[in-house]
Amino acid sequence: MREKLKTVYQTERLLLAPVTVDDAHNMFEYSSNPENAYYVFKTNKSLDETKNIIRKIFIENGLGKYGIFLNEKLIGTIYFLNIDEYNKSAELSYVLNKKFEGNGYATEAANKLRDVFFADLGGERLYARHTFENIKSMELMARIGMKIEGTLRKSYYFHGRQVDLVIWSITRDDLLFGRR
Ligand SMILES: CC(C)(COP(=O)(O)OP(=O)(O)OC[C@H]1O[C@@H](n2cnc3c(N)ncnc32)[C@H](O)[C@@H]1OP(=O)(O)O)[C@@H](O)C(=O)NCCC(=O)NCCS
Repeated sequence: MREKLKTVYQTERLLLAPVTVDDAHNMFEYSSNPENAYYVFKTNKSLDETKNIIRKIFIENGLGKYGIFLNEKLIGTIYFLNIDEYNKSAELSYVLNKKFEGNGYATEAANKLRDVFFADLGGERLYARHTFENIKSMELMARIGMKIEGTLRKSYYFHGRQVDLVIWSITRDDLLFGRR
């Protein structure tokens, strides 16, 4: 699966492409916003911290990880995690700059990687997880055709509390037999 990944994908309005250190200020615009970071990472305190994250996560371990670019500006990231070649499964994860919410950009990017996963990578099961209260993420999972699988009760230590994670997926059978 990994070797079939392309570096860049185009959608109707967006480019999904590697994140570079030059994108740090655009990433910092949202990674420094506690509201934006709340569900996914620790709020970044400095541009240097964001640069280091870009180097470590998006350059050194960048396979399957994409910046979401709108008119050449980085407005978020989306990526495959936990790529499991043998079982042909992977997890999808995403974050969007809050300033750009409500336009369908994250859905457009997620639909693209979903299609790439099944059509190009030969995947069988694409899944995603959200903390029980992350409604926006849950709605996105539903929009891209995922079905709820269940709740991983108290499986995540989150901001000082032990919380439930909800797991969703879409399978090749869902696509083939129209159960979407
Ligand atoms: C999860 C997250 C990416 C969702 O962002 P979002 O903007 O709601 O999702 P989209 O970009 O797909 O936009 C969908 C919204 O745009 C609207 N929209 C407008 N045009 C649209 C279009 N062409 N296609 C789809 N939706 C469209 C939808 O109705 C929806 O609005 P609503 O929430 O008021 O119903 C964002 O909230 C986020 O980054 N959160 C923090 C990080 C996070 O939680 N990541 C997931 C961890 S599990």
